[in-house]
Amino acid sequence: MVNRRIAEILRSGQPDEQIAIKGWVRTRRESKGFAFLEVNDGSSLANLQVVLNADMPNYAEVIKQLNTGASLEVAGILVASPGKGQRIELQASNVTVYGDADPKTYPLQKKGHSFEFLREIGHLRSRTNSFGAVFRVRNACARAIHQFFQERGFLWIHTPIISASDCEGAGEMFAVTSFNLKDVPLTEAKEVDYSKDFFGKPAYLTVSGQLEAEVMAMAFSNVYTFGPTFRAENSNTSRHLAEFWMVEPEMAFCDLQGDMDLAEAFLKHVFKYVMETCPEDMAFFNERIDKSVLATADNIINNQFERLTYTDAIALLEKADKQFQYPVKWGLDLQSEHERYLAEEVFKKPVILTDYPTEIKAFYMRLNDDEKTVRAMDILAPKIGEIIGGSQREERLDVLERRIKAQGLNSEDYWWYLDLRRYGTVPHAGFGLGFERLVQFMTGMGNIRDVIPFPRAPLTVEF
Ligand code: 4AD
Ligand code: MG
Repeated sequence: MVNRRIAEILRSGQPDEQIAIKGWVRTRRESKGFAFLEVNDGSSLANLQVVLNADMPNYAEVIKQLNTGASLEVAGILVASPGKGQRIELQASNVTVYGDADPKTYPLQKKGHSFEFLREIGHLRSRTNSFGAVFRVRNACARAIHQFFQERGFLWIHTPIISASDCEGAGEMFAVTSFNLKDVPLTEAKEVDYSKDFFGKPAYLTVSGQLEAEVMAMAFSNVYTFGPTFRAENSNTSRHLAEFWMVEPEMAFCDLQGDMDLAEAFLKHVFKYVMETCPEDMAFFNERIDKSVLATADNIINNQFERLTYTDAIALLEKADKQFQYPVKWGLDLQSEHERYLAEEVFKKPVILTDYPTEIKAFYMRLNDDEKTVRAMDILAPKIGEIIGGSQREERLDVLERRIKAQGLNSEDYWWYLDLRRYGTVPHAGFGLGFERLVQFMTGMGNIRDVIPFPRAPLTVEF
């Protein structure tokens, strides 16, 4: 007998088809002569209703084991459902239980659980409706991302996870070492002797694949990365993870304008794809998590993003009839309260801010003629704040060397990056999208720890 996925059966299964399914029991209801099971296999939000007749050969034996959480295979025949709520149901002829789940200890019982509680049982939470929907949408976002870039001829490149350079120059890196931490070799000056470490010099988990993406863009013109990145910033917020996935396109022969156009088209594409492929999950978020999810998607797909300079944004914030925790003045690194005010209250849609002060941005961003600002752009989303950060890169060797020094970095560490400006340099640009922030934005989930299967954050590394 053919094994089929529940999503496909609910979509196109027909009465009289002999089928088998495998999955986990969500609920069991017994009435005289029958039992009804709701079975889920992760392929869809909706369950398949399975009807067990009490005259089935091993009924008495299996029914005891079929509690919430048990795994099973059911073979039987599809019938049009006389009940409300489903088009079709499975009349079981044979049930095999793989593993039962003791109702006295299995933590996922029928009642709704808080996301805080579910975080404590991260190994089981994917079996709930909410997390099922989140991780299906996350998968759809990933597919949409690859589709968008592949259709445009971008090469997916794999940048290293272990790196010797601090791309953002912010010093928020996790060290990678093979030293025995109880006996670290020291130099005569009593400093750590990295020459004896695995790589012969300090190494870290990467904060961004951008510098390596620039290397590849100087050969393939248009490339993108999509992989995990790491930040040791001690931020206990609903928008920060210590390990998160980033998508970083990098384009040769491209300026900030082209960068912004691509980023906007990119976000529109991903939203459109998810709306088309996950309508049931998106409707669930709209109903259960955040009533504005569908309106937000519609807004992203159909409206142009607002674009303005950082300087104009500061003027707007100064005029705002609102008390911010961090007072606004030119030069301030915008906080999420400012970003959200602009996106949620002023423009009511995503906003692209450009030309930020040099002092608050990374060394690689192209210096404007005013020498006070750089060709940076951040995309600010309602409820999330910064979702994308990008820039046109500094392609002039002398200016880049000057900027590296000004930021207190050592230009020798960046010798290969500087070489790109020595040999065949071109104007180029790129951006980084925080993948989890995108999934958060799309689903309306309030906490970033609930849109990645296994969140890593300060004091959080279980599972
Ligand atoms: O703005 P960021 O730091 O930019 C870069 O890393 C550039 N190298 C990107 C580039 O131009 N290629 O990070 C990019 C995005 C942010 O806009 C945010 O969405 C996300 O990454 N992000 C985080 N997401 C979750 N947790 C964190 N701790 C994050 N830090 C940044
Ligand atoms: Mg940023």
